[in-house]
Amino acid sequence: MATRAWRFTTKKKKRLQADLGAANFLMLRNHGLLTVGKTIADAFLSMYTFENTCRIQVDALAGQAGPKDLTAVDPQILNGVATPCGYKPVVWAARLFGLRCCASCNAKAPITPIKDPMRSLFEPCQVGSIALASRIVMAPLTRNRAPGSLANARMATYYRQRANPATGAGLIVTEATAISHQGQGYADVPGIWSAEQVAAWKQVTDAVHAEGGKIVMQLWHVGRVSHTSLQPGGAAPVAPSALTAQTKTVLLVDGQVKFVPVSEPRALDAAELPGIVQDYRRAAANAIAAGFDGVEVHAANGYLIDQFLRSSSNQRSDAYGGSIENRARFLHEVMQAIVAEIGGARTGIRLSPVTPANGVSDEQPQPLFEHVARLLAPMDLAFVHVIEGSTGAARDHQQGDKPFDYAALRQAYTQAGGRAAWMLNNGYDLNLANQSLASGADLIAFGRPFIANPDLGARLRQGGPFNTPDRATFYGGGDAGYTDYPFLPQA
Ligand SMILES: Cc1cc2nc3c(=O)[nH]c(=O)nc-3n(C[C@H](O)[C@H](O)[C@H](O)COP(=O)(O)O)c2cc1C
Repeated sequence: MATRAWRFTTKKKKRLQADLGAANFLMLRNHGLLTVGKTIADAFLSMYTFENTCRIQVDALAGQAGPKDLTAVDPQILNGVATPCGYKPVVWAARLFGLRCCASCNAKAPITPIKDPMRSLFEPCQVGSIALASRIVMAPLTRNRAPGSLANARMATYYRQRANPATGAGLIVTEATAISHQGQGYADVPGIWSAEQVAAWKQVTDAVHAEGGKIVMQLWHVGRVSHTSLQPGGAAPVAPSALTAQTKTVLLVDGQVKFVPVSEPRALDAAELPGIVQDYRRAAANAIAAGFDGVEVHAANGYLIDQFLRSSSNQRSDAYGGSIENRARFLHEVMQAIVAEIGGARTGIRLSPVTPANGVSDEQPQPLFEHVARLLAPMDLAFVHVIEGSTGAARDHQQGDKPFDYAALRQAYTQAGGRAAWMLNNGYDLNLANQSLASGADLIAFGRPFIANPDLGARLRQGGPFNTPDRATFYGGGDAGYTDYPFLPQA
């Protein structure tokens, strides 16, 4: 649905303002909304036409700490309800008119610059060659329910439950999937290096597409985050440098999930790297053969590519270590190989510039990741997926001597000609999603909320309620905590 901004003459503005007041519609709604922010200036509205009706929507809220939780406000007001008031013109009501909340409220709505006031979580968008029905993305979530590294019917059910774009995700990113046996680091995670694995994944992609959904596969090499018992021939895991990660992996011992320290890795010889790049290339080709709409390269969270990027885990003295340019070389080669194989329009990448996950750090994440952004810009990727802060924890987590500047990261990317959709993740709810969309994000990825809410899209639309995820069933197990979270009752 196309929306379009209109300019108003003063006369029309006055007329509309009077009519809105007379209808007592916006006033009431305004009151409901404005109690959310600290002041009326914290909130602003946009209103746009949808055929013969108007929708009222909160695009963003500047100050968050208000007297009321957003979800406490009538969800229909928050998420847009079609009303029969019949105004065709697009009106940024609060901005144009400075509408008063009510007689007892004197504050006025602000004029706050936002990039795209019309952008909504629930509208279609094009991501490379993938047409999405909404901007809601299901983030990659490892669930350790793929014995033998094979996708299965239970996984197909789980993804299908979240695939309907009207109620679930516009785009699903699968759980991280090993590109090779060597790339595996956790018990019962799936792979994509064999024909048998390709065939097994087909049941998942078929199920998602049958619901009208879209799905990309996250391609994964864990590097040093592994255990000898998971490696071919019981070998040591591989890494840029022989430095053991201060982290644990998941093993299944006698059918029980056990978190155990990862094994000591060996440093990769430079001559081995082209073989790993080929593993990525083959995995991307396999993902397409399995019916995926594309791939997301996992370059985040302290796994192999991130281990090359970050100074704490890369102490090499060859062409893949030392300078920022050298540390980004492996990522660049992997991306070039995948793009050559399946095309940039079906390729995305996940980055986590400051996460300490799996024991990685860097003193200068800003220039490092801006360099990465400039390398990615000419590749015409479908999307760049950025985890803000510490994955699953503080969004303002800092590495280096100053807070990471995510806007500058994007600017580095766009100034270098990058046009991929910009996807953000970490701790998002509807308010934060609206804020980030208003600041120019294209897609928002939700992780834990999608574990517990197969119909998260529908719940976001109507402002909740939301099921609570059960951490005890995150990793390993059967249907419990996987396919048995309740849906909203059908209307
Ligand atoms: C159970 C679980 C499994 C995860 N598995 C992956 C994964 O396979 N790949 C990945 O990049 N991130 C993984 N993550 C991180 C999530 O994608 C996401 O970044 C994180 O949960 C923060 O988003 P949220 O606040 O919306 O949950 C996982 C997180 C959880 C809780």
